[in-house]
Amino acid sequence: MGKYIIQGGKTLSGVLPVSGAKNATLPILACTLIAEGTYFLNNVPALKDVEVMIKLLEHFGLKIEKIAQNSYKIINNGLQTLEAPYELVSIMRASFLVMGPLLAHRGEARVSMPGGCAIGNRPIDIHLKGFEQLGATIKTEHGFISAKAKNLIGKEIYLDFPTVTGTENLIMAAVLSKGITILNNAAREPEVEDLGNFLNKMGAKITGLGTDRIIIEGVEKLFPCEYNIIPDRIEAGTFLILSALTGGNIVVKGVNMEHLTSFKTKLEEIGINFKINGDEVQVQADLNNFKPTNIITLPYPGFPTDLQAQTIVLLAMIKGNSEMKETIFENRFRHVPELNRMGANIKIEGNVASINGPTNFQGAEVEATDLRAGACLVIAGLISSNTTILNNIEHIERGYENLVERLQAIGAEIKKSE
Ligand code: EPU
Repeated sequence: MGKYIIQGGKTLSGVLPVSGAKNATLPILACTLIAEGTYFLNNVPALKDVEVMIKLLEHFGLKIEKIAQNSYKIINNGLQTLEAPYELVSIMRASFLVMGPLLAHRGEARVSMPGGCAIGNRPIDIHLKGFEQLGATIKTEHGFISAKAKNLIGKEIYLDFPTVTGTENLIMAAVLSKGITILNNAAREPEVEDLGNFLNKMGAKITGLGTDRIIIEGVEKLFPCEYNIIPDRIEAGTFLILSALTGGNIVVKGVNMEHLTSFKTKLEEIGINFKINGDEVQVQADLNNFKPTNIITLPYPGFPTDLQAQTIVLLAMIKGNSEMKETIFENRFRHVPELNRMGANIKIEGNVASINGPTNFQGAEVEATDLRAGACLVIAGLISSNTTILNNIEHIERGYENLVERLQAIGAEIKKSE
């Protein structure tokens, strides 16, 4: 198990580039199972989760070649198996995204059931109900979910919750079906839109992307293509918070601020201003004038749950009481006890964290319990007095490419140790 050793309080300045979006890359990679031929994907982040998805694709028989730092050539010459094994699904829930493409392309799939997760229960009932509504027969046996469908038939579907990967799985299942599928109460996240744009480039007919009513007209055939993944809005938001807390001398580069509207508005409410120059963003922030605020996480375009932990560090630095209500996942405050160990005063009642600032963050030995909790502790460590030892950094490496090197390049004192 690796750890980061962070010496806080250093002046940070310079350009901090944002990588391609993890949560757009994973469904797009899974989607290369849907049609034979050669794909080229650019702006793919170098992450543990991406490695797992690549292993899974190789397990199905695809040939994958890294042709540049963030570019891959993917050759699908036909699938050798229709089963996603426990070893890979158990280490990454997003492996379940292969179900939709396999069903669409081959009418059959067998995927190990995703297990529990640190941030919540995370059932997949909405994915399965949707597959059934499209005509698939679903069976759960021996820890595997099997789906079979002779022909998937387009249908009007209502999602009980706008699940992100659920919407993606159903879009992928529906693209080659007969007739028209309408997904009502669909997820509107930019990553869902990116997958839809990728599929449209392959010849799919999907409209309504970015809205809660996505319409998919089934087509006979899809063709591989070259595609550039969108920038990671969560990574951009993480870096903008770091910048706001360290004097605003960081230029965050490769940002699409249109994907961060709710985040930008809430930070403006706190007293942070944004200077946007093309894809470069700088914040103007004076910590002494920050005002407390209340935030609720919601599906997009609401405030992202994936920025909740990092934003709590920001709120903890503000004089007064702020509240953060988490409505997406039932167990996503595991960073709070760790932040309290570093000097914060945060109380949790149900799904609300009540944050009493300002905090004089002090380095301590803490643990990353999941990816975003880890990112929040890196921020806290960088603004703390003395040394923070952050354990379980494997979680962070699932979602942030070369984080240590990129932070070192802007003056941070952070190193990795075994
Ligand atoms: N839900 C159900 N039934 C389902 C599906 C979801 O009840 O069939 C519930 C979940 O239990 C949860 C809520 O709906 O309470 C939202 O879950 P959603 O399905 O939208 O999440 P996800 O698709 O599993 C993706 C991201 C997460 C991100 C969430 C919310 C990927 C690979 N993962 O997960 O990313 O937090 O959407 O935006 O896209 C991360 O990157 O750190 C991360 C956890």
